[in-house]
Amino acid sequence: MKGIFITMEGPDGAGKTTQIRRLSQALEEQGYEVIITREPGGTPISEAVRGILLDPEYKEMKPETELLLYASARAQLVGEVIGPAVDAGKAVISDRFVDSSVVYQGIARGLGVETVYEVNRPAIGKYMPDVTILLDLPAETGIARKKDQAELDRMEQESLEFHRKVAEGYRRLAARDPERIQTIDATLPIDTICDMIKDKVYRAIQSK
Ligand code: TYD
Repeated sequence: MKGIFITMEGPDGAGKTTQIRRLSQALEEQGYEVIITREPGGTPISEAVRGILLDPEYKEMKPETELLLYASARAQLVGEVIGPAVDAGKAVISDRFVDSSVVYQGIARGLGVETVYEVNRPAIGKYMPDVTILLDLPAETGIARKKDQAELDRMEQESLEFHRKVAEGYRRLAARDPERIQTIDATLPIDTICDMIKDKVYRAIQSK
């Protein structure tokens, strides 16, 4: 089996975790060995960096620092987990990847899309996702869902305006790369979303 790299993207509260679990089961039934990972995180070093990134105490963090920390967590995850797994023929599903940096740091923080790609080039190497599922959701809905859950982390505490830029940024990105980035309306029922994701991922597998 050829390895496949799938990423799940979307604003905070889009329901990525539930869908990743379901997709993973479906791929295992297809005979894949599946590795699920998340960003920032997924290795001991990257999880330590995650702790810094999401700590609500660090309100003084500069956008540039944020960009570099996300990229460093990513470099370790790609080198230690994603690269070896894809090369070994496994299916890797990552909860967020470089598109999150493009949208959150490049667009919402305003550092620029090209800068984000440049900084991330050494972190990603040849491991761009084969297919990316974008769970599209209005910023208001995402934040409302998060508020019902737990304490908000440093990113979730950002303004509604910031989260609007994120949601809009994702749409712009998907419009630029509709081949790789498959958009799904995250307000649809969970089962419907799950079926749509499976359909899009199976297609990506067939075209590899
Ligand atoms: P997480 O708890 O994983 O959020 P969610 O459950 O919504 O996926 O926290 C990740 C946060 O970090 C999220 O607010 C998005 C943000 N982020 C970036 O700003 N840039 C990045 O490159 C990545 C991977 C995440």
